[in-house]
Amino acid sequence: MNITVIGAGYVGLVAACCLADSGNRVVCVEADDDKLALLGQGKAPIREEGIDQMLDRCLQKGSLSFQQRIPRPVASELAVVAVGTPSLPDGATDLSSIHQVVRGLRDSTDGKLTLLMKSTVPPGTGLRLMRRYLDGTDISYVSNPEFLREGQAVKDWYHPSRIVIGTNDAEAGDMVSGLYEGIDAPKLVTSITSAETIKYAANAFLATKISFINEIANLCEAVGARVDDVSRGIGLDPRIGPDFLNAGLGYGGSCFPKDTRALNLSALSNGYDFRLLKSTIEVNGKQAIMAVRKMNSLLNGLDGRDIALLGLSFKPDTDDIRESPALNIASLLCEHDVKLRVYDPVAMANARQLLPEEVIMAPDLYTATEGAQGVILATEWSEFFKADWARIRKSMSAPCVILDGRNALSQEKIEALGFRYAGTGR
Ligand code: UGA
Repeated sequence: MNITVIGAGYVGLVAACCLADSGNRVVCVEADDDKLALLGQGKAPIREEGIDQMLDRCLQKGSLSFQQRIPRPVASELAVVAVGTPSLPDGATDLSSIHQVVRGLRDSTDGKLTLLMKSTVPPGTGLRLMRRYLDGTDISYVSNPEFLREGQAVKDWYHPSRIVIGTNDAEAGDMVSGLYEGIDAPKLVTSITSAETIKYAANAFLATKISFINEIANLCEAVGARVDDVSRGIGLDPRIGPDFLNAGLGYGGSCFPKDTRALNLSALSNGYDFRLLKSTIEVNGKQAIMAVRKMNSLLNGLDGRDIALLGLSFKPDTDDIRESPALNIASLLCEHDVKLRVYDPVAMANARQLLPEEVIMAPDLYTATEGAQGVILATEWSEFFKADWARIRKSMSAPCVILDGRNALSQEKIEALGFRYAGTGR
């Protein structure tokens, strides 16, 4: 099939590469000059497992090409929209790129086209876009939300837990279903608004699971229980399940924070007060503040202290720092007279522009921690598990505190090396 993919970000580029690698001819549209220049040289502007090899393969085969504008006319049967839908300052979704692209596709299409919406848009958006731009055209609209996790997106594309197809046009639905031929996953065909809601409900549920276990972890500290055991004890119940029960600094990234805020506002603007979701958001916001408070009390005050912050990306195996709890911690620490050194295996360049100027970017883990009185582990990179903590202990200054923001290190081993250890709910 001939396919146009609009947007070469974390979702669009993965979709473009996977579709091109599965026998389709794909034109991927990317408006950003810098990203386009990199793609032109066969380099991915994002860090995603397996994407560089795929990009290389598809460019060699000629099944994938890049351009800056939507082709006129659109020479494909299918257009996949995967542009960003960031948060506005009030938490609502900025749909300006979506409007621009849907309008652009309408203006560039004479014949039949299926528009597949992969971008995350609030419930009701698809129907509004259809009314506003597509009435009277031969363009069909399908909502086909993505459930890709950053860092594992290529794997998730080929092994999804489900494929959701929201449409009121059976023929267009079949075309989208055909894209996933050979992929073994349940297919769920729904209305457009239900498909949009599934996307938000999935992210809101996972975010709520994280905030729930963080609340339990905070309770564990109050009553003297250990959250690791509690997580395992509840996660073994198949109705609860073991995933997303890791307590710590809370969720970040380009999805959960934005999508929970947007769903909350969408509920409010439709006359519903989604109180559980509000609490999820509030609890998540508190975790980083509580970590800084904990460090404050462990070090007997933060002023004049030398602290290392390890991990800046919102989770391991990505260079994405959007809404990373680590950045909040850095800003909160910088409100005090702290000498702060930070280190991340891949996200240093992305983080520099968002960190307070006085933060020192360390070239490696050992330079970051040398002489520090306290270390905060904010992202559970495997490099940190494998580190020589005995060496780090020797190079640090008293009282040698480790605040493990992801409950990722072995408390017993760390304490045996002479550190003072604190986790969340441990
Ligand atoms: C998330 C969803 O998992 C994907 O299914 C979805 O497609 C994607 O958002 C999206 O909407 O595009 P992602 O943002 O890549 O994917 O990250 P996750 O792996 O879900 O982690 C999100 C955050 O939750 C991270 O900051 C992680 O550290 C945190 N987390 C996760 C916890 O604090 N505890 C856990 O137990 C699990």
